[in-house]
Amino acid sequence: MNQAILYSKYNALQKTDVNFVLENYLRLINWRENDAILDVGCGSGDVTTKLLLPRIPCAFKKLVGVDLSEEMVRFAASQNTHPNVSFCQMNIERKDIPETLEESFQHIFSFYALHWIQEQRQAFDNLYKMLKPGGDMLLTFLASNPIFHIYENLASNTKWMDYMKNAQKFINPYQHCEQPERVLERLMQEVGFSIHLCTVIERKYVYSDLDVFRKSVIAVNPFLGNIPENMHNDYLMDFISEVRNLNFLECNDNNNEERVRVPYKLLVVVASKQSR
Ligand SMILES: C[S@@+](CC[C@H](N)C(=O)[O-])C[C@H]1O[C@@H](n2cnc3c(N)ncnc32)[C@H](O)[C@@H]1O
Repeated sequence: MNQAILYSKYNALQKTDVNFVLENYLRLINWRENDAILDVGCGSGDVTTKLLLPRIPCAFKKLVGVDLSEEMVRFAASQNTHPNVSFCQMNIERKDIPETLEESFQHIFSFYALHWIQEQRQAFDNLYKMLKPGGDMLLTFLASNPIFHIYENLASNTKWMDYMKNAQKFINPYQHCEQPERVLERLMQEVGFSIHLCTVIERKYVYSDLDVFRKSVIAVNPFLGNIPENMHNDYLMDFISEVRNLNFLECNDNNNEERVRVPYKLLVVVASKQSR
């Protein structure tokens, strides 16, 4: 994901869900003065600085946003004005996290990022390593979303398959799980976490019109970079046809335009690492 400017304009669904999760579950985080805080997969940084930062209830040592994408990190850093907030590049799937990051954070947050990760075990091992004993984390990411079903359908369409050969890499690993919360709970237990909450929440989001929906799709689509620019419109039209086939389009009574209603499922996790 490299569309930092577009993502920061068209991330209303993600922001709505993060607000929902923070309003309902942030109270489960055990704050102390001078804590160090990590936000994994911070993207364009809006959620880090506009939604998470104002809700930190006491003085903190540092809030660090990390992301795989250098462009996202650059954009986030350029928007940041807080002296205790910083952004840097990091792959949460990497095998060898730097020793300097081990047991460095009292709190880890991650919003709308972990469904991008195929190596779930490696990512959760890393989260565990970076957490201080007694530290806790609040995560939310997609359990499933029809967008991944559409990726699968387009990837099997002869018109698009050459451009989407790596589609499997971008399909949410929990998309086809019947009980994603059980699978995740087991994985986190194996890693060593104490789990306080691991649940699936059914959500719906309405995009006010097709243009907003199209831009929101472009902002997170990992395949457009492989598709020649003169075919982008065609790809997006096929994408919208898939949405129509799923019956997610409905008429907006006020202006006769079509809006898009998408149902999906979110995983919400609160877990901690035992004190020594
Ligand atoms: C949809 S954005 C979410 C951004 C932000 N947390 C929010 O809620 O708006 C997902 C982010 O996860 C990042 N990401 C994907 N794979 C990653 C990895 N292996 N390590 C770190 N970040 C990753 C992407 O670059 C992208 O910026």
